[in-house]
Amino acid sequence: AAMNKELLKLLNTAPAGLQERTKKEFDAFENLFARFLRETGPSVEWDKIKLLPDDAVKTYGELSTPDASQCQELLSKLVVVKLNGGLGTSMGCTGPKSVICVRNELTFLDMNVQQIEHLNKAYDVDVPLVLMNSFNTDDDTEKVLKKYSQIKVSIHTFNQSRFPRINRESLQPNPKSFGPESSDGWYPPGHGDVYNSIYNSGLLDEFIKAGKKYIFISNIDNLGATVDLNILNLLINPPNGNAPEFVMEVTDKTRADVKGGTLVEIDGKLRLLEIAQVPKEHVDEFKSVSKFRIFNTNNLWISLEAMKRVVEDKTLHMEIIVNPKTLDNGLNVLQLETAVGAAIKSFEGAIGINVPRRRFLPVKTTSDLLIVMSNLYMMKTGALEMNPKRSFPAVPLSKLGSSFTKVKDFLARFASIPDMLELDHLTVSGDVTFGRGVSLRGTVIIIANHGDRIDIPMGAILENKIVSGNLRI
Ligand code: UTP
Repeated sequence: AAMNKELLKLLNTAPAGLQERTKKEFDAFENLFARFLRETGPSVEWDKIKLLPDDAVKTYGELSTPDASQCQELLSKLVVVKLNGGLGTSMGCTGPKSVICVRNELTFLDMNVQQIEHLNKAYDVDVPLVLMNSFNTDDDTEKVLKKYSQIKVSIHTFNQSRFPRINRESLQPNPKSFGPESSDGWYPPGHGDVYNSIYNSGLLDEFIKAGKKYIFISNIDNLGATVDLNILNLLINPPNGNAPEFVMEVTDKTRADVKGGTLVEIDGKLRLLEIAQVPKEHVDEFKSVSKFRIFNTNNLWISLEAMKRVVEDKTLHMEIIVNPKTLDNGLNVLQLETAVGAAIKSFEGAIGINVPRRRFLPVKTTSDLLIVMSNLYMMKTGALEMNPKRSFPAVPLSKLGSSFTKVKDFLARFASIPDMLELDHLTVSGDVTFGRGVSLRGTVIIIANHGDRIDIPMGAILENKIVSGNLRI
């Protein structure tokens, strides 16, 4: 009740044009907050977890490929949504993450637009590209979108919700107003917000009316998340007549991705199990590659009708992710968030599809950026494909140290991106620079100690080599 009073006060400070929308958002926030107060125990009972039955996860290879003549019809039922609420902060950039240049001067956003443009041309269709922005990314994104006005892709945007951060001591909303003086008081509540936000925007109904059936949702920073006709075919022409309302693309876990969420069965329903929900004593078990073999790529295919139903019937349920933060002024706050994949249990006939690793190519750090900028990949119709000259398909492990964290510093340290076709593993630490035309092969470790600097000279070939101290090679 105290929360409600504070929210009403806050609502009164919203600009007139935002009142109605904010009221809806605050209702959703209050629900989440009430659940947070009520649900104190662990969100999963470990003993109830069952490993998946055989038919719960299909193998991508089992899916049939539609005939070329069917593709136009399939694509006419598809909407593509990219999650674009996040900032580039972890890579040292201000502004939306999606406007960081990834390759050939193209940004994540450019590449996604190109992909849909090619798809639309190739099949003579008009698949809409929808961006879910947040109040953090909306202005900058809209500015960038202007440059696509001549391109034949229908681009739509909608904004996700804006929730008030919660003061950790008083459990009251932190912002005092909608004004700039409270700009650090608000947060976008995670991608689980997509269901309510797309519904509230009116776009969900608009697409249903236009005859669309499925929505493909993915992270805008996953360069492997392209439209897949085999999966779409399974949904529109299911072999047994029953189309799943929800498909989660999962992929085999390697030791590098032990933290990703996995699929399990609880009380006969598929559930996404995230590391945050795992009781401490079971964390090692959770991370094991042999027991929980797959993880969520966050590439999801969801029936539009089903989305509408779960929102309207209020049967949508996602575990709350409590994200504690300390603001610049030292204040401790909480953010209550949800993840889009956690809603899998709210849908009928949900399945996982175990897809090849190439559909999971996220760029979270400059180490990932190095890989996707290199000759390991080739750009084709706005998407990246592994260079056929690489003799084995595994992507090398790359670990760049803290002097490379920011995109600007990273770029300044490479005169050109090295040849990495034969690289297995790269570790770089300290003050290191790379001259033009360097080749890295096998396992390469370069460590400049504190106070030292290592410049890899132009044209150097480093093969299974450790370079350290202030050695020059
Ligand atoms: P995250 O920042 O959540 O990355 O963004 P993550 O933690 O590695 O990934 P997940 O959550 O485990 O999948 C993932 C995508 O979701 C968007 C980001 O822009 C990015 O594309 N996102 C995240 C939103 O759109 N809104 C949010 O509130 C949070």
